[in-house]
Amino acid sequence: MVEKLATINVPRIREDFPILKRRVNGKPLIYFDNAATSQKPIQVIETLDKYYREYNANIHRGIHKLAEEATIAHEEAREKIAKFINANRTEEIVFVRNATEAINLVAYAWGRANIKQGDKIVLTIMEHHSNIVPWQQLANEKGAKLEFIKIDEEGHLRQDEIHELIDERTKIVCITHASNVLGTINSIKEITRAAHRFGALVLVDAAQSVPHMRVDARDLDCDFMAFSGHKMMGPTGIGVLYGKSKHFENMPPFLCGGEMIKEVHTTGASWKDLPYKFEAGTPNIAGAIGLGVAVDYLRNVSMETVHDHEKQITGYALTRMTEIDGLVVYGPKEVTKRVGVISFNLGDIHAHDLASIMDEEGIAIRSGHHCAQPLMEFLNVPAMSRASFYIYNTNEEVDVFINALEKARKLFNP
Ligand SMILES: Cc1ncc(COP(=O)(O)O)c(C=O)c1O
Repeated sequence: MVEKLATINVPRIREDFPILKRRVNGKPLIYFDNAATSQKPIQVIETLDKYYREYNANIHRGIHKLAEEATIAHEEAREKIAKFINANRTEEIVFVRNATEAINLVAYAWGRANIKQGDKIVLTIMEHHSNIVPWQQLANEKGAKLEFIKIDEEGHLRQDEIHELIDERTKIVCITHASNVLGTINSIKEITRAAHRFGALVLVDAAQSVPHMRVDARDLDCDFMAFSGHKMMGPTGIGVLYGKSKHFENMPPFLCGGEMIKEVHTTGASWKDLPYKFEAGTPNIAGAIGLGVAVDYLRNVSMETVHDHEKQITGYALTRMTEIDGLVVYGPKEVTKRVGVISFNLGDIHAHDLASIMDEEGIAIRSGHHCAQPLMEFLNVPAMSRASFYIYNTNEEVDVFINALEKARKLFNP
């Protein structure tokens, strides 16, 4: 099942996450909602506390000591993130609020300047709404066409459609690296090769991959990549847009105002160099610094170990879930082809009812359409439940989850 499992000390890791000591409804918390947002280690929590206690100041503009310290810490975080995803240059890292804003930045700044009537934007049917709606808006405005690569029965992208739909009219391919519903890991290199052959760009939604596996932007050769800090142990309100500097250089700004200008006159303005051209206004300084520390944390554990642990626990959960009568799991059967996300339905129990029963047992799972309604329509299901794992989850927690599922099954189908 898993070839080689790097050693990992989960009990030791769990000590770093104070929230895991909580009880919910009288039971120990089992947090299986990591694809929505992850928990934060004490190192990140203390970094935020220290920033506000000791060196809170606005960055880039101040001459005083606090401003200097805050600026250095903010820019160090950018360097850590550039290294983490193997960007060519630090200025290829733009801080935004979240993956959603990163994708909107590209759709507005690059899209409005480059998409024309009759052009094609290729997406996949498994995209999160964040990687659909900005492109729909752009396509409507410009008279461009959206096309969706569909999936096979196991939740893999259809090879024939990748090669049929990406053609000379395609200007950009926007694809998730890992599905937040099916868990499928998509072969981005194959997509970038297919797109670049026609001069089309590739935007990768890495919201579910960067937190869980080694992601090398240069190796993937994607043109843009978006991810959120809060799903990778960082604070909320901070995210990243990576972009090749040649694209960033040629793009107009997205938001305008202070911080992003070189000069302003009554007749017009000029823009700062990268990455600041895309960072208007006072940024989330504490958030960026906290994300830098989250990256330190993940690097210390090592992304190979994170991924191996999640494959192990996902494999264990998938095997145990086969014990439950009437339980349907979506997505690839092969654990090496997915991240630690398992979406499922249990008989005709509504996903929300199932999530409520789990909550009574102290287990946090998600239910609903998971911001992927086109995928739900394609699969013809109104909703799913989803358990998603991270580095601090254990097989023992999976056992409690399985017992709770069995209890729910008996309750609805005695
Ligand atoms: C695949 C994927 N893309 C984008 C997003 C949006 O992330 P955020 O809400 O942090 O912008 C999510 C969040 O669940 C996601 O799973």
